[in-house]
Formats: sequence, C-alpha cells, structure tokens
Amino acid sequence: MACRLEQVPEVGDYYEYKIGRQSILVVRESEDSVKAFRNACLHRATRICVGAGNADDELRCPFHGWAWNLDGSIREVPDADDFAPECLSRQSLQLPETHVGTWGGFVFINMSDNPEPLLDFLGPIVEGLAPFEVDKMRLLRFRTTVMDCNWKVGLAAFNEAYHLEATHIWDLSGYAGGTRINTRRIQRPPSGRPKERINVRDAQGRTPGSYQFLYETYQTHNMMRNVPGMLTDSAPLSDMGDPKKAAIELLRLQQMISLAHQDDIDYVEALPEVPADVPSVQFFTDVRRKVGAAQGIDYSHIPDEDMLAAIDHCIYPNMVGPISAGNWILFRFRPNGDDPDTCLYDVMFLHRFGKDEEVPPVEHEFYPKWQDHDGWGPTIGQDLSNMGLVQAGMHETTYKALRLNRQEAGVRNHEKFIDRYMTH
Ligand code: FES
Ligand SMILES: [Fe+2]
Repeated sequence: MACRLEQVPEVGDYYEYKIGRQSILVVRESEDSVKAFRNACLHRATRICVGAGNADDELRCPFHGWAWNLDGSIREVPDADDFAPECLSRQSLQLPETHVGTWGGFVFINMSDNPEPLLDFLGPIVEGLAPFEVDKMRLLRFRTTVMDCNWKVGLAAFNEAYHLEATHIWDLSGYAGGTRINTRRIQRPPSGRPKERINVRDAQGRTPGSYQFLYETYQTHNMMRNVPGMLTDSAPLSDMGDPKKAAIELLRLQQMISLAHQDDIDYVEALPEVPADVPSVQFFTDVRRKVGAAQGIDYSHIPDEDMLAAIDHCIYPNMVGPISAGNWILFRFRPNGDDPDTCLYDVMFLHRFGKDEEVPPVEHEFYPKWQDHDGWGPTIGQDLSNMGLVQAGMHETTYKALRLNRQEAGVRNHEKFIDRYMTH
C-alpha cells in the first residue's frame, strides 16, 4: 500500500512511497486516474520528486531540468540537439511506471511485471472490511518511526494476541475490563507495573489471547477478532466505580489505539447519567451508533457484535490493525533501506468523519527514534520496547526456529507465504 487517495487529492499532486531502496511516485494524473512512476530520472538517475506536494502539470527533474507530463510522456529535454538522437527516442523516454490499483481509498502498487488484479489478491479482505466503508474514512493522524527489528518481526508482534497478558495487560486492564469476558474483576489501569499480576485468566487458566479472540487465515492474509460474546459478557461500568468516570476513562484508553474518538468522549461527558448495569461493550456500542447517527453516519448494517470487535485483518504482506465502526488503527511495516535489523513502522489512524465535519489536514510525523516521541500510548510503547530484544535474540547462534501456537496462526501463515514468495 503506497498511500491513501486523500494524500493525492488534486491533479498534479504527488506522493513518494519508499520501500527498501526503491521509490515510487504516486501521481494524480487526472480527477479519476492515479499513476505510479519509478522515481529515477532517465538522464542521470536523480530522484525526480521527493516527499509530497503538487507538481502542477509536469514532473521536472531538479538536476538538468528534464520534464515529463503527468501521464509519463516526455515533455522537455533541454538542449536536446546536443544528444545523439538514439538517446532520445520518444518511447524510451516514457517514464517507467509500475502497476497501480485502488481499493478502499488506498493506492496499491505492485512492481512485478504481471501481477494478479488487486481485488483478486485482496480476496476476503474486501468483503471483511466492506461493512466499515473504509473508502469513506480519512487519515486522522499518520506517524512513522524506526523500529529496532526486521519488518516481519514488527508485523508479527501485531498479528497475534498471545502477547497481551505478558506485554500489555497491566495498562490494558482498564480497557480489557471493557472487553474481556469470563472475569468480572476490574482494576483500574495502574501507573507503572504492579507487583501483583492482575488476573485476566479464565477458569481454565487461559490468557485472553486464547479465550477472547477468534483466528482465521485466508490464503496469504489472516484475521483475528474479539469473540462476539464480549458484547453481552463484558463487565458493567459500575464494577469500576462511578460509571460515567469509568466510561470516560475507558474511552480515553480506547482512543489511544483508535478504537474510540473524541466524539464518543464528548457524547458521554454530556450525558446526565450513564447506566451502571449494562455490559460495558454494549454501552460503548450504543454510544458509537448514536454519535454516528448524529453525524449522519449509518451503522445499522453492522451487527452489534462487530461494531467494536476490533476486527484485525493482516493484509499481506505488510499491514495489520484493528478496525471498529468509524475508527481504524492501521500499522504498516516497511524495510528500512537495506538494513535487515530495522524497519519503518507507519501508524495510520483512520476515522470516519461526520457528513458536515471538516477533515483537518494531516501532517506526517516522523520520529527517527521511537523513544523520542511520547505519544504512542502505553500499549504501542510496550510493543515497541520488545522489538529490539527479539531482533537481537534472533542473532543468537543457538536460536534455530520459531515455535508458534494456535493464537499465532497468522504469524505462521505470514512466514509461510513469505518463504513461498522468496523461493518462487
Ligand atoms: S539527472 Fe535529471 S535532468 Fe539530469
Ligand atoms: Fe501489542
């Protein structure tokens, strides 16, 4: 996935997508067409455009001024007479393109010669995400940092729920209290690591990744989601004390991982009373529907049990992230140049804005070191802190292979298809 369509809204807009050592220029050629060019001047290889911006009606190389039209045809070679004519045949000066496809408001590229059609490749992802109308979502925030691990290690850390108890449950306990089933014990999220473990295991001693999630694999892609039972089995807000305070606190935690939005918090704050005895996930589901309705967004086609199920599709090869009605946090992992020990970690918050709401412009935030940014929220911060340890451990000469369980079916599936693509 190279970018969102809303990142190239106007004719002449370009967006540079970097992957490994390659750079692709996504260009809005006309109102209804987007092209993707390989970003190397046909004269002496200069990157033609970097970053993002508007090129007006030509892509012009900064070095000697060769210029192309937005359809990739050559427009100007200064002092053309000083070249041997065979250097400048019109056809050979067409800027090389790469295959491009759009779906769900995203621009995808494929650098192979003859890729399968995008929708065939995406397969069940298209159907799975259809109710959430991701084409109508817009970027709310977009952050990138460098992770201390290979891109596959980074992706895998977000493609299973087995790590929840050991890595996150301390800070997620409040949030999990809103979603977890089989336990009525609610504790406020502690500041710092508590000495005692919060009991999030069920009667059989299973951790939430085992009893709280469903897992499926589809060809190259995979999916995990909260079990439908969480809707009715979640603990009521009164278990956390004052229900209104609890609701707002839980929504703030959800907001950090884009499972709730400020609109939900504002709505709850304005309520004279919050029901104490309704299962909390049912309450949050009703809030989301009502906020949507007030903004002209209809979620009636989404069943209650899917509204906030954090349905988490891993879109092969390098994106994963949970979606709920109106909100999606999508993670993308890219090789960092040719360094196999680090990767670029993109965090995209996507939101469904109301009919009359203005979509504020989004600035791409880049943090060369993830430690330099303190806005990841507790959850992602904990994920990030594991990554360097994994990457370092993988170099230990005694470490031979991953051992993967049922909850890590997506990780196994991903590795399997990566191996296939590498060897075929
Ligand atoms: S390198 Fe692009 S015009 Fe010379
Ligand atoms: Fe995590």
